[in-house]
Amino acid sequence: MIIAANWKMNKTILEVNQFLDEFVSLVGENKHNKIIIAPSFVFLQKVIKFARKKNIKVFAQNCHQFASGAFTGEVSASMLSSIGVNGVILGHGERKAMGETCDMVNQKLKMAICYNLEVILCTGESENNRAEKEIEFQIKTSLKDINTDEKICIAYEPLWAIGSNKSASCENIYLKVKFIRDICKKMGFFNTKILYGGSVNLKNYVRILNIPKIDGILVGGASLKSKDFAEISSFNSSLH
Ligand code: PGA
Repeated sequence: MIIAANWKMNKTILEVNQFLDEFVSLVGENKHNKIIIAPSFVFLQKVIKFARKKNIKVFAQNCHQFASGAFTGEVSASMLSSIGVNGVILGHGERKAMGETCDMVNQKLKMAICYNLEVILCTGESENNRAEKEIEFQIKTSLKDINTDEKICIAYEPLWAIGSNKSASCENIYLKVKFIRDICKKMGFFNTKILYGGSVNLKNYVRILNIPKIDGILVGGASLKSKDFAEISSFNSSLH
């Protein structure tokens, strides 16, 4: 399973250090899952140093759509790649709320691929009754002109479930994962990994990870506490 932590704009350096110290002693061997941590840009190198010892992947939460240039305050895919970042989360609902479009996500995705960064591409509806239309549009636009040999990982994150304590139902997640996989297959992407994100917590992660054909979860709020994220990261499908 893929278990990814999206820390968003949280933690100071002291809190990052404390998390890493505690997580290292709690998480054990990490044999079953691919664990990803996506801290703020400023803590990437700190987390990378720690992650090497534990076989954990480190992702950024965004990158710019151009390679370099006069874009004050932005961070490029080449910069991320040059410090050993493994991948990047793209198209998160919170970024779309700040004006990021699917065309921009498509450009960012191409840039990420160009610099060998793995991608978790987020998709999710704002309204229940338009869910399939919105998701299909987002995926088709974001994956436009991307080589179908690329390994794509998509996180289904309905906007109303993010940070709301109202996770989507397992049935809904199952149907959307299937829907997303079908769109990807029609576009020629046959090896897509599909995650769910949106109010995943200690109470529901086992249920969600047991949904057939799901490949993992993207965890926001519940990934901020080392103890909680260590427990979630230790998920073992043969035991649960
Ligand atoms: P949440 O965030 O788990 O706090 O809902 C998930 C996400 O936004 O990736």
